[in-house]
Amino acid sequence: MVQKADIGIICAMEVELNKISEAMEIKLKKEISGVEFLYGTLEGKNVVCAVCGVGKVFAAICTEAMILNFVPGVIVNSGVAGGLSESLSICDAVVAESLVQHDMDTSPLGDPVGLLSGINIVNIPCDEKAGKILKKAAEELSVHTETGVIATGDQFISGNEKKDWLKKSFDAKACEMEGGAVAHVCYVNKVKCAVLRTISDGGNDDAKMDFPTFCKKASDVSSEIMKRFVRDYND
Ligand code: ADE
Repeated sequence: MVQKADIGIICAMEVELNKISEAMEIKLKKEISGVEFLYGTLEGKNVVCAVCGVGKVFAAICTEAMILNFVPGVIVNSGVAGGLSESLSICDAVVAESLVQHDMDTSPLGDPVGLLSGINIVNIPCDEKAGKILKKAAEELSVHTETGVIATGDQFISGNEKKDWLKKSFDAKACEMEGGAVAHVCYVNKVKCAVLRTISDGGNDDAKMDFPTFCKKASDVSSEIMKRFVRDYND
């Protein structure tokens, strides 16, 4: 039996989902492909959420399983990120207009870096309406919010050289490790997708210290934004 969800929420880590799942009335827990899916209600909506684990493959497994088993109207990947734009501070938010996979590289064959062969795009677009509602929710909570490209890869970014490369190559505002995979799986399944990230570090030499220091604080901000999003999002 399929439990139909209005909204699906995917976070990489427990700390990014806790405050959201605590606010849910959970009706069902189901383990699929090693991922525990929580299904229930939040702000009057049917919601499914899960902690996928860190990195693109875990995110892809989770997204595909969520789509096939819960048929969500929209999937939002929420959590923390490294900020790449100088105008972003710790706990500010970035809402993705599109996602790139910065570690996808067939450039020796003449392709642009990040090209997803088969679907032939670099930038995976996000759902505009969901993005607008996320931005509005963040701004109502007085969180400074920027929109733009989020760069995803199986790497924790902690140095200025790589950070500058991500900005130069993709005009990316933030870097993380799952959004591009969630968006890719949604794209091929024609499911609406959005990505919300709050800043836990600057992707620079300090990132390895800042990330553990600010991860929880930034996660709490993204969770508050997500609860408002769920309240305000209607298909
Ligand atoms: N998530 C949070 N900070 C990050 C960083 N610096 N690199 C990759 N993913 C992140």
